[in-house]
Amino acid sequence: MSDTASVGAQRLSRRMARGCEFLGSEVAVMCGAMSWVSERNLVAAMSNAGGFGLIACGAMTPELLDAEIAGTRALTDRPFGVNLITMHPQLFDLIAVCARHQVTHVVLAGGLPPKGSLEAIKETGAKVVCFAPALSLAKKLIRSGVDALVVEGMEAGGHIGPVSTSVLAQEILPEVAEQVPVFVAGGIGRGEAIAGYLDMGAAGVQLGTRFVCASESIAHANFKKAFIRASARDAVASVQIDPRLPVIPVRALKNASTELFTAKQREVAQALDEGRVAMAEAQLQIEHYWAGALRRAVIDGDVDNGSLMAGQSVGMVTKEEPLADILAALMAEAAHALEARAS
Ligand SMILES: Cc1cc2nc3c(=O)[nH]c(=O)nc-3n(C[C@H](O)[C@H](O)[C@H](O)COP(=O)(O)O)c2cc1C
Repeated sequence: MSDTASVGAQRLSRRMARGCEFLGSEVAVMCGAMSWVSERNLVAAMSNAGGFGLIACGAMTPELLDAEIAGTRALTDRPFGVNLITMHPQLFDLIAVCARHQVTHVVLAGGLPPKGSLEAIKETGAKVVCFAPALSLAKKLIRSGVDALVVEGMEAGGHIGPVSTSVLAQEILPEVAEQVPVFVAGGIGRGEAIAGYLDMGAAGVQLGTRFVCASESIAHANFKKAFIRASARDAVASVQIDPRLPVIPVRALKNASTELFTAKQREVAQALDEGRVAMAEAQLQIEHYWAGALRRAVIDGDVDNGSLMAGQSVGMVTKEEPLADILAALMAEAAHALEARAS
């Protein structure tokens, strides 16, 4: 590494110091939990490379989570965390599994934490991290005792809110970054962006899409190929076409399933108009449309009928490569950006 790069690298490590201390990692970069993708192999690869991996619990049973945590421990002695979805019917049993394994960091995703869940996690000794989709909610979560926040914009892959990362970062970082570490997520594909958010007060960042094609990721070759071929404009948010039939926005690569989903909404709306189906049943049909779809794409490789959840940074995924190389490239870009900025 040249002298200039090493000055940049020093600046980068100073800016990441708080995030690293919080995570116990070498760099303050989390690999966001991705259902089916973020299992033991990717999580361990991320932590072994000096970042921070997160197991995506998703819809796993407590028994499966138990095995996944043990499996990850067998592959790394570095810190990693577990991401739990707040609406999981066995949330408290999952927290108990994390406690048994002395998991150090639990991320709660998918909405505001249900009553008692923050306390239950903190009682285990783990640090609790929540998503803050707006400034008011960030403040509320801090008052409730969260240890850190993730601010994720609509550029991200998977379930998304309506506001962009750049706007959320500007609204939330100046107000709360001194109180708790804040990790910025959504649309980050290169290190220059990481440097930018660190300069704005972020303690670190979380990336998902950029890590899907790591060699260690167990995602099906077809899923990885779709990522490598795609450009930013292919990663689109799901569209709701009828106000009576709510659709939770999900960002994914366009495929046959996307088209069929629009047709399905039209068909169900028409059935509602004609009184052939009750409202509750109609809403359920829409809600269940994507059930099992991510697994079909990630594990079975069915990229036409499955869900290809991906963020807009997918255009910056150009090949399959070892996770350590992806992380090293991001860090080098961030260090160079910090170096250039100061001159
Ligand atoms: C395929 C895929 C699956 C995801 N699954 C989850 C999940 O189960 N839980 C969660 O909290 N976030 C999930 N996410 C979001 C990521 O954890 C992460 O926050 C996001 O990918 C960051 O934005 P980026 O994709 O622009 O890097 C998923 C993202 C992708 C691409």
